[in-house]
Amino acid sequence: MKATILVTGGLGYIGSHTVTALYEAGFEAVIVDDLSNSTEAVLDGIARITGVRPEFYKEDLRDPSAVNRIFAENSRLEGIIHFAASKYVGESIEKPLLYYENNLCSLIHLTKEALAHGVRHFIFSSSCTVYGEPEEVPVTEESPVLPAVSPYGNTKQIGEEILQDVAQAEDLNVILLRYFNPVGAHPTAEIGELPRGVPQNLVPFITQTAAGVREELKIFGNDYSTPDGTAVRDYIHVMDLAEAHVVALKRLLAGENKQKVEVFNVGTGRGNSVLEVVKTFEEVTGKSLPYSFAPRRAGDISAVWADTTKAERELGWKASKTLADALADAWRWEKKVRKIK
Ligand code: NAD
Ligand code: UD1
Repeated sequence: MKATILVTGGLGYIGSHTVTALYEAGFEAVIVDDLSNSTEAVLDGIARITGVRPEFYKEDLRDPSAVNRIFAENSRLEGIIHFAASKYVGESIEKPLLYYENNLCSLIHLTKEALAHGVRHFIFSSSCTVYGEPEEVPVTEESPVLPAVSPYGNTKQIGEEILQDVAQAEDLNVILLRYFNPVGAHPTAEIGELPRGVPQNLVPFITQTAAGVREELKIFGNDYSTPDGTAVRDYIHVMDLAEAHVVALKRLLAGENKQKVEVFNVGTGRGNSVLEVVKTFEEVTGKSLPYSFAPRRAGDISAVWADTTKAERELGWKASKTLADALADAWRWEKKVRKIK
């Protein structure tokens, strides 16, 4: 019988891609999402890719009775992948209580009900934001966790701490995945990233500019101490990231985890500057991208990329797709959304 996994935020960007990877690997998913940052149409995209329309609950995880009902109605759940959260750094500075309430209350209700219903395997979406501006790159899982610069970042640090404490006290096994910069879309272009309003992240801003929705890309800062002066990040294809969840889940279900809480960096191990991303996009698409330089964005760091040794050694997982693959897939998706030939 197929193992059934509760995927919170399963209609969001990373969650939806992970659901397709779960089906590909022989799992079944039950999705809960309040559609605060997604639409039910994503379920159609998942169905076209997998041939299955997963069971879907439109519920808010801040509502404890809803969370209880989902567990009560799904007695076969074997694990949880918890994506659901509010994720915009800038918005979190303007609306800190929304972020603390949504990201932490949801986590607490979910964990309580998991324990009450005997679900012992939990994967949590964390972020490389916990490393702040690192003194040394690449960062390993041992690199210091620095004070958060935003309420969003703080919710990820506190989320990690809550799960550490609960796992020590209870029968719960946890994998914390610290994502670097997820980009790209499913190669079929059936699902992808659909940010609300003006995109805050680099790649959707690039694809929307190329599609003519935005006038030009502003590159925030060309005076960083990096080879070309623009900031450096570790851009990972969202399908590679999705695959990392499948591998982590299998490790938990097989009892192969070495500690009750394990943490893994999920990146490619390569850093690319903003200008390199722009150039790669132009090469891949044959389109020239209008851009200009603008001042640094508040809260941005100069450079971060992942040391992925631990994930390779322990999970046997390594990103296999290139930045060019990710940008080609992101562009295919944008063209589909905008109905561009
Ligand atoms: P997303 O906004 O696309 O997906 C999150 C989903 O959760 C959305 O569909 C939203 O509607 C849903 N959701 C939010 N609050 C909810 C609630 N209370 N109840 C039910 N559903 C709720 O974001 P994403 O990019 O897919 O990110 C997924 C996770 O990964 C988040 O926890 C995010 O913080 C984390 N993360 C993302 C990135 C990134 O660059 N995208 C980087 C590091 C970590
Ligand atoms: C940001 C968050 C991170 C979060 C992630 C997902 C910060 C400091 N970090 O990562 O915590 O997990 O988003 O939401 O906010 N850029 C431009 N022009 C643009 C957009 C971006 O030059 O229009 C640059 C940025 O300055 C940065 C790089 O592109 O150097 C990547 O930016 P972005 O995609 O927003 O991701 P991060 O800031 O790395």
